Order: sequence, then structure tokens, then C-alpha cells
Amino acid sequence: MAFPITRNRRLRGSAGLRSLVRETQLTVDDLIYPLFVTVGTGIKEEIASMPGVYHLSMDLLKQEIDNVVASGVKAILLFGVPATKDAVGTSAYDHNGIVQEATRAIKEWAPELLIVADTCLCQFTDHGHCGMIHHDPRTGNAVVDNDSSLELLVKTAVSQAEAGADIIAPSNMMDGFVGAIREGLDAAGFESVPIMSYSVKYASAFYGPFRDAAHSAPQFGDRKTYQMDPANAREALREAESDVIEGADMLMVKPALAYLDVVRMLKETFDLPVVAYNVSAEYSMVKAAAANGWIDERAVVLETLTGMKRAGADIIITYHALDVARWLRGE
Ligand code: PBG
Repeated sequence: MAFPITRNRRLRGSAGLRSLVRETQLTVDDLIYPLFVTVGTGIKEEIASMPGVYHLSMDLLKQEIDNVVASGVKAILLFGVPATKDAVGTSAYDHNGIVQEATRAIKEWAPELLIVADTCLCQFTDHGHCGMIHHDPRTGNAVVDNDSSLELLVKTAVSQAEAGADIIAPSNMMDGFVGAIREGLDAAGFESVPIMSYSVKYASAFYGPFRDAAHSAPQFGDRKTYQMDPANAREALREAESDVIEGADMLMVKPALAYLDVVRMLKETFDLPVVAYNVSAEYSMVKAAAANGWIDERAVVLETLTGMKRAGADIIITYHALDVARWLRGE
């Protein structure tokens, strides 16, 4: 009796064998850690829906930056919660805006730490949309205008680069945003600053906790006229292709977990690094289940992030980054 002919279990017999044939490695080099900086002093306020994630004022930021550097994580994604908001998001491109100030300070404290600047307007506009609001003359309805938003995004990106941001990550999903920002950065002398484009960003319910954190929920309507329909995959190729043509250096898919097919598709179609954003609600769900004792947090997070890499992600943005760095060191 020669059956089974195939014995796949042979290569699973010991830890040594398993590690020898392991196809995917998660390393600390893959990770980007998001941080929320807020105006004021003495503020370290936990975001209710994201245990372990804080609003930090500038004076308490240094300590957190030290933690990041000590963890071995080499890049942060910086979000700002500004003092004032208005219709045109002035505080997004203010030389003394919260993101610009934090960027300059972090560059002094930790020059080697890579700062990825999220380039969007929704945290800085009083209406909470990612672009300029115009009124459609035919219907009177408020719409997010594409081309006038591009000008403000370019100003934001240039001011972030001036402050010292290493990577510009535009997340607002206007058409042509990569091309406009590339041209603006080049004209300002920042031709060597890369663009990590939020190429494929879905209109997702998984951003809920982030919008609490960034105070960036839209005050009317939703983001469905600019963010993608979760039902579409082929459209993701068009989004990514236009970004590639316009000069993107890295392509992001967001959220990650429910869209790993799209991560794989981008990986197979383009030869740029693919970034997966393990977004806020993906984090909150794990935290809630772990707090209830329903799952093993460490095992679930490592399995999830390994799955993202297996699907094709070269880089993962995750609120778990500092924990993961610790776990990967075996602590
Ligand atoms: C800004 C932005 C958002 C996120 C990252 N950048 C929110 C949104 O588009 O509504 C979400 C991140 C997360 O949920 O972790 N446009």
C-alpha cells in the first residue's frame, strides 16, 4: 500500500524544518507606526476606541519617539490634530502647522527615523472632507471639487517636505493627485522626496476609530464620491496605473485585511513596492477581542501581518508596530 503518495506533513515535523521551508518572513524593517500629534502641552490622551494609541502634544512626543527608535521601527506615519479648522484647510499647509512643527522637532531628535507625512485635508477642514467644497450650480448640492483641491494638496505636500518629511503619502483620492504633487515637489526642489500613494483607498467602515482619533469625520455626506467602492477590484488597477504613470514610488492598498486580493493583484501587476494599511478598526477589533480574553493577541496579530506579507505587501502600516517589534525580538 503506497498511499498516501504525497506526504505534505514531512516538512512540518519539527520547528527547525518548518523554519527552513518558511516562505514569508515578517520583520521590523517592514513596519510603519502611525502617530497622532496634537496642539497644547501635557497631553497624552488615549483614544477611546484604540487602546494603546494616544494623542500626544509636542512636549510629550520626544519620549514616544525615543520608544519608537528603541523598538527598531524605522518609520512613522504622522497625523496632526490642529488647533483650528476652516473651509479650505489652512492649517494643513501652514508653515507653523502641527505636522510641520512636529516634523522639524522629530528630525532634530531622531534624524534617521523616516517621517511619512499623510497628505490630506480632512483633519484640517471644518467640513471634514478631503478636498474643497463647491456647490453644483445645477443642483445646489455640495460636492468635493477635484482640481481646486489639488492646489491645496500640493501646498500641503511642499510644506511637509520643507519641514523635513522623508516621504509624502497623499491619501485624499482626488484624480491626478500624484502627478500634481510630483510636479509641485519637483518645482520646489524636492525631486528626491518619494511619494507613497494611497492608490487604492476604499470607502470603508474600517476607518471609524481613526476618525475619532483625528477628529476627521465628514460633517455631511460620506466619502463615496472619491474613495472606492469596496465591491471593485479591476478599478483598483486603473487607480494604481494612473498613479504609476504620474510618478508614484510606492502603491498603497487600504484597508488591508478585507482587500488582500487587491494587494496581490497590485503586486503581480506593478513592480513598485506595495504597502498595506492595517487600519484603525482592524486594530480595535483585535484589541477588543483580546481584552475580553477571546483571542491570543500576539498570535493573532503576527498571523494577520504575516498574511499581509504573504499576499504581497512589502510594507505594513500598523498601530501594532511597537508590540510587533517587541514580539519579533522574542520578548
Ligand atoms: C485621511 C486618512 C484616513 C485614514 C488615514 N488617512 C481617514 C479617512 O480617509 O477617512 C484612516 C486610517 C485608519 O483608519 O487607520 N484621509
